[in-house]
Amino acid sequence: MSVKKQMAMNASKFIVNGGTPLKGEVVISGAKNSAVGIILATILCDEECVLNNVPNISDIQDEMEILEGMGAKITKIDDSSYKINTTGIKSFEVSDEAAHNMRASTYFMGTLLGRFKEAVVPAPGGCNLGDRPIDLHLKSFEQMGAKTSIDNGSVHLKADYFISSSIRFDQVSVGATINAMCAACKAGEGVKTEIDNAAKEPHVVDVANFLNSMGAKIRGAGTDKIKIMGVDYLHSTNYSIIPDQIEAGTFMVAAAATKGKVKICNVTTKHLETITEKLRQTGVFVDDSHDDYVIVDGSNRELKPCNIITLPHPGFPTDMQPQFSTLLTLANGASVVTDNIFSNRFKYVEQLRKMGAEITVTSSAAVINGHGFGSLKCANNVRAVDLRAGAAMVVAALSAKGETTIGDVFHIQRGYENIVDKLKNLGADIRVVYNDSPDNKQNCG
Ligand code: EPZ
Repeated sequence: MSVKKQMAMNASKFIVNGGTPLKGEVVISGAKNSAVGIILATILCDEECVLNNVPNISDIQDEMEILEGMGAKITKIDDSSYKINTTGIKSFEVSDEAAHNMRASTYFMGTLLGRFKEAVVPAPGGCNLGDRPIDLHLKSFEQMGAKTSIDNGSVHLKADYFISSSIRFDQVSVGATINAMCAACKAGEGVKTEIDNAAKEPHVVDVANFLNSMGAKIRGAGTDKIKIMGVDYLHSTNYSIIPDQIEAGTFMVAAAATKGKVKICNVTTKHLETITEKLRQTGVFVDDSHDDYVIVDGSNRELKPCNIITLPHPGFPTDMQPQFSTLLTLANGASVVTDNIFSNRFKYVEQLRKMGAEITVTSSAAVINGHGFGSLKCANNVRAVDLRAGAAMVVAALSAKGETTIGDVFHIQRGYENIVDKLKNLGADIRVVYNDSPDNKQNCG
């Protein structure tokens, strides 16, 4: 992302006048964590791809800017469809500073290695959720025959040729699973790669389906054992990205937190099962009898506390942990939230405490003492500390009467397309202001 753009985004805040139930319909965009993998997986294609249902978010814009800087030709067809031709990319080196800003840049490793048998990629960034190692990624590349090293903040990969391998991840990793699939699918005719203890998230399956739509031979995605037969050539495809499970879950929680009634459209209901189950435990009504939309009705209900343990799919997604924890501050009683994926994913608690939340945090768990609807108070000094923490602050602000100001919303804009417009269409009083805007002088309460 250009420095100018980054500074502009840092300047923007959301001002939310909360306390109004959300009502109406919202259409969910394409899945961020699919799209960030699939956009870079076009590097493996020997022809032009067409991608549909691509979310218009800053991580995607950044990836496209980097690809174009490397020689790719990207043509926008409409708001969410693009033609991408990466045959013009001649270098296996990613030098763009923007690549350091997002975790998804790890996918340059598997895709460039799969195409060029060599890659030089800036060590990845992304949400600050504590240590974000890439040891599992590197181990899988080494087992496929690559030499790996990290010099001056960049990862260097090189394989004279790929060998058949059997990779077992000792920890489930979405990124390492996707990276291994990308490198292995173009490892060459006859090279077999088996991945054990693979991640099963919907976006892992989506990337596998995208690669297979170009002629890759990946079997078992969505289970913990994936088998890949290498090929030499991947042809064009016209592929639609799945709906975003976490955006949908965030709107489900926002409906519940405002005692609203919202129809959440363009979803894959099956991907929302654990979120639906937990909402029902709190007493919220969810109609999930249709494959492509759910209805959440939080009106006239008091919330019951419930305990959350995040796990790899099909467990409760860690990316929903901050938002759901915020909802639990509105329940009557104590809930315990344990995040088994990221030990450092409770930084948003400090921001919620500014709104009156009573939460105690240990190493990987939080005890939330909920004090019922209306117990969160508006505040004019909270901020988004990362993407999902920012979404949690929006949920909190929507539930609290009075004006809440949320800073550093560029984090939120990384992963939520048009969130302000979508919330406005549901009746929320929310607006974006910039630091020098007179709007920004407001009193809370
Ligand atoms: C992906 O991150 C998502 N990001 C994250 O979503 C999501 O929280 C995470 O998967 C878990 O579902 C993208 O898809 C771009 P992991 P990723 O590798 O791939 C450890 C969001 O909000 N690990 O599955 O980086 C790691 O530290 C973002 O949309 C290693 O130890 O996550 C973590 O504890 C935030 N070594 C666990 O595995 C490795 O080499 C799971 O991480 C890799 C990971």
